[in-house]
Amino acid sequence: MKQLVILSGKGGTGKTTVAAALAHLASQELLIVLADADVDAANLELVLDPTKREKHDFTGGKLAMVDPVALDTGAELVLVDGPPGIGCPVISASAGADLALHVAEPTISGAHDLECIMGTTDHFGVPSLVAVNKADLNPARSDEIAAFCAERGVELVGRIPYDAVVTEAMVHGRPVTDYTDGSVTEALKEMWIRIRERLFLDGKGSAVGAQR
Ligand SMILES: Nc1ncnc2c1ncn2[C@@H]1O[C@H](COP(=O)(O)OP(=O)(O)OP(=O)(O)O)[C@@H](O)[C@H]1O
Ligand SMILES: [Mg+2]
Repeated sequence: MKQLVILSGKGGTGKTTVAAALAHLASQELLIVLADADVDAANLELVLDPTKREKHDFTGGKLAMVDPVALDTGAELVLVDGPPGIGCPVISASAGADLALHVAEPTISGAHDLECIMGTTDHFGVPSLVAVNKADLNPARSDEIAAFCAERGVELVGRIPYDAVVTEAMVHGRPVTDYTDGSVTEALKEMWIRIRERLFLDGKGSAVGAQR
């Protein structure tokens, strides 16, 4: 079982959008458990209509609550839609994760926010991947984030364009990848392939699920 946590240094960058899309794509190949760890504003179930197995109150600490649930279901992948910021809830949501996907925005503080959150995940030994969301809104800032990733030796797994269809899909309660075949979905599909490679073919775990 692998665990991927989706994070961002600040709120509203697209974590839930990406989590819902990856859940949709991953669930076509793997048995997954999806956990909403945004303790202040959990909203993943508005985007997806999952089977709710368990609901836990948030507790800080080293052990992630999702693990017993995932073990129980025999899940191959646990996807955690993390909380925004760099505080305690982020540390808790990242506990035990195999990989963190940072969703960054091409804003003036995008690279700085990314550096902050990666400081946290690096500290806890969780390897990072980065995706730039709404990348075409500011190509220069997106390139800045790409340069930061190259400098740090962190893989940039995708640049997701801005498209109003993302919000439209959210309003309809569907993952964007299930709602449309446009450029956003293309970018997310390519991203999932890269993430899957890192999760399952990195020499750390079995590739059985990923190759089905
Ligand atoms: N690529 C995109 N193009 C257009 N709109 C987008 C895109 N990605 C996200 N959005 C919109 O931006 C808003 C924030 O997205 P989302 O809820 O996924 O962010 P979040 O990081 O989960 O936020 P929070 O930190 O509050 O949990 C939503 O209205 C969503 O529809
Ligand atoms: Mg969210």
